[in-house]
Amino acid sequence: MTDAESLSAALLAWYDAHVRVMPWRVSPRDRAAGHRPDPYRVWLSEVMLQQTTVAAVQGHFHRFTARWPTVIALAAAEDAQVMGEWAGLGYYARARNLLKCARAVVTDHGGQFPATREGLLTLPGIGPYTAAAIAAIAFDAPATVVDGNVERVMARLFRVAAPLPAAKPELTALAARLTPETRPGDYAQAVMDLGATICTPRSPACGLCPWTAACAARAAAMQGDLPARSPRPEKPTRHGILWLGHRDGAILIERRPDRGLLGGMLGFPGDGWDGQGGPAPAEAAWRDVGAVRHTFTHFHLVLRILVARIDGPPGRGDLIRRADFRPADLPTVMRKAWDLAGHRLD
Ligand code: ADE
Repeated sequence: MTDAESLSAALLAWYDAHVRVMPWRVSPRDRAAGHRPDPYRVWLSEVMLQQTTVAAVQGHFHRFTARWPTVIALAAAEDAQVMGEWAGLGYYARARNLLKCARAVVTDHGGQFPATREGLLTLPGIGPYTAAAIAAIAFDAPATVVDGNVERVMARLFRVAAPLPAAKPELTALAARLTPETRPGDYAQAVMDLGATICTPRSPACGLCPWTAACAARAAAMQGDLPARSPRPEKPTRHGILWLGHRDGAILIERRPDRGLLGGMLGFPGDGWDGQGGPAPAEAAWRDVGAVRHTFTHFHLVLRILVARIDGPPGRGDLIRRADFRPADLPTVMRKAWDLAGHRLD
């Protein structure tokens, strides 16, 4: 066996013993018995897992698959329903791409996901990571899957001192060298699990690691210092306003434009949040009831929350009856505003 083969064999043996149960996953035993994962569930889980942890995804995943059990069902869903179900997961462009992708699978591929990395890459919203993950996990293709966990494992195993993100191509090449021809789907999940449970960012459990003897960082007692990272630029803070208008129990809500921040999501009218200011959605005696703070990928946002009863017709948005208004459909920053001020509207 080559070094790469003995490493992948050791990792697969560890995975066989320690596989984590996930609702989209087929265990090594079931896979060996001929069961294949459902590409739809693998795809959905991978898109959700780009937002948050395995634990946080489970509830969303169960609700999504209960409501839309197949890609055909999802493709036929109404946009607003899917955006509502995605609320709280963040990165709402992903939810729009999710629908576009489901519809492309149905219209262009007869309802079947393509089985190769190249075929998957042609679908909307599927980038190199997701294409490799689906090809490996759903179709057992020897594609190399590199997420943050895998980068950390490779940086330590091979003691790569160059900092991320510049080191990414080198770490990807190292990961590719280890990817086996046998059981590549189990292997892809095994490296991710190793990074998530053993080779953790802080205090890795090297005593339990199947690669401990081969690990160059461990040999140099550097496992806690790798991967190195270039300092991230500080996030700027933006300021803005949200207007919570109401009348007789109804609440002023608008759907945001498809493009841009929180695109396509429901929310309370805002002033653009770009420092330019903007007109209130209606003439009213607006009261400042406090502020909410939320952090997006590239900036922090502080929003003052203004509340008023609206008497005339609103210039933007619609007054939605309280009974038809579902705070759970709101993106997180809007939920924060509702939690702060929703009880002050009556
Ligand atoms: N993180 C993202 N996708 C994963 C998977 N399929 N298994 C384990 N961790 C993951």
